[in-house]
Amino acid sequence: MIKFPKDFLWGSAASAPQTEGAAAMGGKSPSTWDKWFELNPELFNQNQGPEITSDVYHQYREDVKRMKEIGMNSYRTSIAWTRLLPDGKTLNEEAVRFYRDYFTAMLEEGVEPIINLFHFDMPWWLMEQGGWEIRASVEHFAYYAKVAFEQFGDLVKRWTTFNEPLVHIECGYLLGCHYPAKNDWRLMVQVGYHTLMAHVRAVEEFRKCQIEHGEIGIILNVSPAYARSQSPEDLLAKEVSDNRSVYSFLDPCVLGTVPEKLVELLKQFDLLPFVEETDEKLIAENTVDFIGLNYYQPTRVKAPDHPQTPPQGFRDLVAGYDWPEKKMNPYRGWEIYPEALYDVALMMKEKYHNIPWYVSENGMGVADEERFLTEEGEIQDDYRIEFMKEHLEQLHKGIEAGSNCFGYHTWTFVDCWSWLNGYRNRYGFYRVDIEDNCKRTMKLSGKWYKQLSEQNGF
Ligand code: NOJ
Repeated sequence: MIKFPKDFLWGSAASAPQTEGAAAMGGKSPSTWDKWFELNPELFNQNQGPEITSDVYHQYREDVKRMKEIGMNSYRTSIAWTRLLPDGKTLNEEAVRFYRDYFTAMLEEGVEPIINLFHFDMPWWLMEQGGWEIRASVEHFAYYAKVAFEQFGDLVKRWTTFNEPLVHIECGYLLGCHYPAKNDWRLMVQVGYHTLMAHVRAVEEFRKCQIEHGEIGIILNVSPAYARSQSPEDLLAKEVSDNRSVYSFLDPCVLGTVPEKLVELLKQFDLLPFVEETDEKLIAENTVDFIGLNYYQPTRVKAPDHPQTPPQGFRDLVAGYDWPEKKMNPYRGWEIYPEALYDVALMMKEKYHNIPWYVSENGMGVADEERFLTEEGEIQDDYRIEFMKEHLEQLHKGIEAGSNCFGYHTWTFVDCWSWLNGYRNRYGFYRVDIEDNCKRTMKLSGKWYKQLSEQNGF
């Protein structure tokens, strides 16, 4: 039997834009996702947009009971900036009532709300001015954060600023899968820097608010790099990849410094962002209390086959590597490698002075889950249970080795809407029938999770 530490957090994560729905109701203004869908619905799987998603805006009271039913003692979701402050300045009382009622309902059922501020949902009014490209975005975000802390700080003790900042940065400015779908390295770095400063300023506002027993953190996606070989070139590829994708936010958020190697690389490729004089001090003084890490898959790297010399960019130092022994989740095209969770646990202990952290997302997206429906209407998702077990074993090993991990959250609680993918891949403990008013039915994994949390292990 594997036992987890006392008061371990068991729960799930989701976000406002992927679950709430009511995208144009209750005084909410459009986010980039609402607008992008309006402009280019053909980009979205089966034309599924963010208007309704899982209808949490109307079903949250019953949902909170469902959380309890499967043994969750905590739940992370986000506030929609566009709902709370539709024009960035004016407080929407209807939104305040909704979120207060939602968080109170959780507390009444013994489910701790962990509340995140930004989950890829940039307000459209701000995007029209340039979004994270402009420095003013930092102060707009800091104001939003302050209002959220003031309105809900009596109910919410654990706060996070951003979810997976690297995703809106890289997807929006390099890879084309988030609005504004640009491809511009220099802009991407600037957007990344403004995001970091927005985080730092929100932490500063949080400290000023002095929320009793309040703690603040950030949610980062972690995809540690594994090199093809121990050759110096392959090891350099690993170092470059980790600096870009792992240390870029962890170092400033936890240690208060931007990694030297990353600065050196940005300088070498003429990509350094514009900064303000007091930024360095602000970064140093506003580190976090805890970290959430979303772990899904590792990064396999090697030195590029035909790099330019001298290197002109990151692509001349690091390339993806197809590890022949990899085990795959075919639906998502992601490698399954639970061992990385142990390595991550040790990294947090050794490199990040054993700061408290938790697994803020881990999970398995699977398409066409109806294949596994029984006659009684239950999805037999043994593969998901297997996935969680394998990851929890590695996490447990890391905790035994002294890593300060305080919880394990899955993605996700009820099936939810996934950006351009819509409802193709399902992740939830509850199936959501989008053809039938988003009716929820518990999957086998929900039952298993209940046992897991009751026994605090398996
Ligand atoms: C990461 C993100 O936080 C979330 O928005 C996304 O849907 C899940 N992981 C699954 O890919």
